[in-house]
Amino acid sequence: MSTATATKATRTAARVADAVKVYGSGDTAVRALDGVSVTFRAGRFTAIMGPSGSGKSTLMHCAAGLDTLTSGAAFIGDTELSSLDDRRLTLLRRDRIGFVFQAFNLVPTLTVAENITLPMDLAGGWGDASAQEWIDALVDVVGLRDRLHHRPSELSGGQQQRVAVARAFAGQPDVVFADEPTGNLDSRSGEEVLNLLGRAVRQMDRTVVMVTHDPVAAAHADEVVFLADGRLVDRMEAPTADKVLDRMKAFDSKGAPPS
Ligand SMILES: Nc1ncnc2c1ncn2[C@@H]1O[C@H](COP(=O)(O)OP(=O)(O)OP(=O)(O)O)[C@@H](O)[C@H]1O
Ligand SMILES: [Mg+2]
Repeated sequence: MSTATATKATRTAARVADAVKVYGSGDTAVRALDGVSVTFRAGRFTAIMGPSGSGKSTLMHCAAGLDTLTSGAAFIGDTELSSLDDRRLTLLRRDRIGFVFQAFNLVPTLTVAENITLPMDLAGGWGDASAQEWIDALVDVVGLRDRLHHRPSELSGGQQQRVAVARAFAGQPDVVFADEPTGNLDSRSGEEVLNLLGRAVRQMDRTVVMVTHDPVAAAHADEVVFLADGRLVDRMEAPTADKVLDRMKAFDSKGAPPS
């Protein structure tokens, strides 16, 4: 898992090229993505920002194989998603991608421990001691050791989202995509979840791509990419909440609706 920095800097976890997504047709057609090309580098935490309706969720869904592009291409590593049949695409999503959504999407009848290992149980990925060690480390990182046998309904929202984060990383996927992972949380629980995502990237060499409209959340990332009207309009390295907020204000002053 430890990769030399030189290779790490150039590895691509996911990318889209000339991505166009049109919803509907005729008069009601919406061009949600209008020719976006962007690379998400491995071992980094990237935030996708932009006003409401700018195409953030669409970009994430298409990059992660949850939705298909109208034209252009989406890659996970070197694999072009449109080259896969449904079965292979399902396997790729299961084995190489983790997801965290605004609604925690835990299985209510399963315990915390069962929820976390669900992707691996489905994949039949057990029997490997290092997989067990990884899960064990994850449980400590997300601070859920004393909640392992609880059901999701017995946890706070922040704790539930920490379970979802652990589940997303359980299978050691190439990339974890998160869409507004703090959207349902108070600022303190949100901060915990963001710190976890940051720690997974910086201490455990994972890759995270997170959609957010919150400059404070985006400041946890290594880099922010900005969308407006379905286009990539800017990128920012080493973001701070103030710098991101200033950039977002520039969108608003051009008449785009504030998010
Ligand atoms: N399933 C759909 N059918 C039709 N139009 C859609 C669909 N999903 C999204 N859109 C439209 O595509 C555009 C981009 O939507 P998207 O959800 O990607 O925006 P977003 O940046 O994630 O916004 P928000 O910050 O509000 O979540 C919007 O105009 C939206 O109305
Ligand atoms: Mg969205």
